[in-house]
Amino acid sequence: MHLVMQDRNNGFYIVRSANGNDAAAIVEILAEVGSEGIYIANEGAYMTVEHQAIILSSLDPHTHLVLVAEQDGSLVGTLEMVRGTFRKNAHTANFGMALRAPARGRRIGEGLLRAAHQWAQSEGVEKICLSVFSSNRGAIALYQRMGYQEEGRRRNQFRLGETLVDEVLMAWYLPPRLTH
Ligand SMILES: CC(C)(COP(=O)(O)OP(=O)(O)OC[C@H]1O[C@@H](n2cnc3c(N)ncnc32)[C@H](O)[C@@H]1OP(=O)(O)O)[C@@H](O)C(=O)NCCC(=O)NCCS
Repeated sequence: MHLVMQDRNNGFYIVRSANGNDAAAIVEILAEVGSEGIYIANEGAYMTVEHQAIILSSLDPHTHLVLVAEQDGSLVGTLEMVRGTFRKNAHTANFGMALRAPARGRRIGEGLLRAAHQWAQSEGVEKICLSVFSSNRGAIALYQRMGYQEEGRRRNQFRLGETLVDEVLMAWYLPPRLTH
């Protein structure tokens, strides 16, 4: 996948499938966002660059998608979507995403998610799920705008400093594929 998109300020960015050479930047982005402490569960790098590179170069492209957003020659964000691994849940996929702080609020997240939706649609996924902290208003605003609805929540599931927040479970049902 390789798409050229325009952000809110009419700046161009690319959304493309990640490859082994993106491993260091992806680990760095997730460590950076994790260290902010309020958006995602990991607290620092949760994987070595070597491990990430192996995953990227050996993933099954029909069940596992890793996208990156690239602007002005550097990676500013990433999204990972994984399809259910059993027959019982292969119609579902889960994803997580993160942008470096300076890239936020320009709808690059929306571009990444639209690209992931395209992949999911082409693979016949029927339902996409995610989990988000109840305090993450920006992310929830994006997901709602993209059609996701809350399906449930685990109360006080995460502690962000002194504050307990809920884990909100959201989902979007893809439109049925037209048969030819
Ligand atoms: C969540 C994230 C991926 C969204 O990507 P993005 O490109 O910033 O999102 P968008 O610009 O498409 O949309 C964000 C929306 O939230 C709104 N928003 C931002 N902060 C907000 C807040 N505190 N309260 C309400 N809305 C907020 C923005 O105004 C925007 O809506 P608009 O375009 O209608 O104005 C990105 O901000 C990010 O990486 N955040 C840190 C990591 C994270 O939260 N990951 C998701 C974990 S579930």
